[in-house]
Amino acid sequence: MPYAIAPIGCRPWLLNGLSDRLIVSHYETNYGGAVQRLNAITEKLRALDFSTVPEFQIAGLKRDELVALNSMALHELYFASLGGDGKPTERMASALKESFGSADRWRDEFTAMARALSGSGWVLLVYLPRERRLVNQYALDHTQNLATGTPILALDMYEHAYHIDFGANTAAYIDAAMRNVDWARAELRYLSATGEGERGAGMAAQQTELPCVSVEAIRDRMAGGETLQVIDVRPAKYHELEKSTMAGATWRDPERVGEWSGELSKSEPVLVYCVYGFHVGCGVTAALRKEGFDARYVAGGLSAWKAIGGRRSAEAET
Ligand SMILES: [Fe+2]
Repeated sequence: MPYAIAPIGCRPWLLNGLSDRLIVSHYETNYGGAVQRLNAITEKLRALDFSTVPEFQIAGLKRDELVALNSMALHELYFASLGGDGKPTERMASALKESFGSADRWRDEFTAMARALSGSGWVLLVYLPRERRLVNQYALDHTQNLATGTPILALDMYEHAYHIDFGANTAAYIDAAMRNVDWARAELRYLSATGEGERGAGMAAQQTELPCVSVEAIRDRMAGGETLQVIDVRPAKYHELEKSTMAGATWRDPERVGEWSGELSKSEPVLVYCVYGFHVGCGVTAALRKEGFDARYVAGGLSAWKAIGGRRSAEAET
C-alpha cells in the first residue's frame, strides 16, 4: 500500500507574514517530493530478494527510507503547526510552564535553537512519556528523533522553508513562524500524546462529513483508462493566474453552479476540486449533492495533485 499524500495542514492564504507562494512551494515540491521518494524506495525494497541482495544496497535503501519517512511525518506536523495566532492556549501555557518554567522561557530556548541551526534541520517540541514532560529537541537532519518522544510542534529550518520570502534572514522567518503557531491544534496533539485526547488529533486543517476521493485514487483510475467527470472549481482569480487544470478536468466558476450543473451526468460520480480542498470545493460538492449528483470533493485539491506529480492539462497538450 503506497503512502498517501496528506492535504496541506494549514490555510496558506491566512498566514501572517508567510506568503502563499513559500508555503505552497514547500508543500508541493519538498513535502510532495519526500512522499514520492518514499513510495519509490518502498517499491524498490518490495522487489528485493533479501537472501541475495548485497548488504550495502539494503543499508542504503533503509537509510533513504528512514530519511523520507521522517521528512514526510515532520513536514505534515510543520504545516499543521501553522495557522493560529501564536498565543499558547491556557492548557499549553500551563504545560510549558511545568516543563520550562514559563511559556516565555520555552519560546526563548526554542527560537534560540532555531537560530543556532543556521540553515538546516528541525526544532521540535516533543512530549516524553517517561518523564511526562515536554522538551525542545534539536535535529540536524530528518533522522534525529527522540526515541519514545511524540513531536507536538515542528519548525522547519531547511533553507527551502524560508528563502523565497526571507533570503538568508532566518531570524525574520523564525519570528513570522512563531506568530502563526496554531496552539489550539498543538493542544489536541499534546492531549493525544498524554492519553487525555483523541488519538492522532490535531493534524487536519479541516473535518467534513462530505464524501471525498484521494488524488491517488483519481490518478490510478485515470492510468487504468477510465474517463472521470472531474470539475475544477477554483475561484476565478486562481484560475486566471493558473489556467492549467488536472488532466481531463473542466473548469467551472464556483459562483455559478446553477448555470453549469445541468451539463453534468448524474449516472457517474462528479469529482470536484479547488485549490487546497477546503471550503470552495466542499461548498460546491454540497451544492451538487443537494441537486442529486453523486458529488465528492478531492482531498487536498489541485495542490495535492501537484504534490503527487499528477498530470495537468497544459502538460497533456504539449
Ligand atoms: Fe521542509
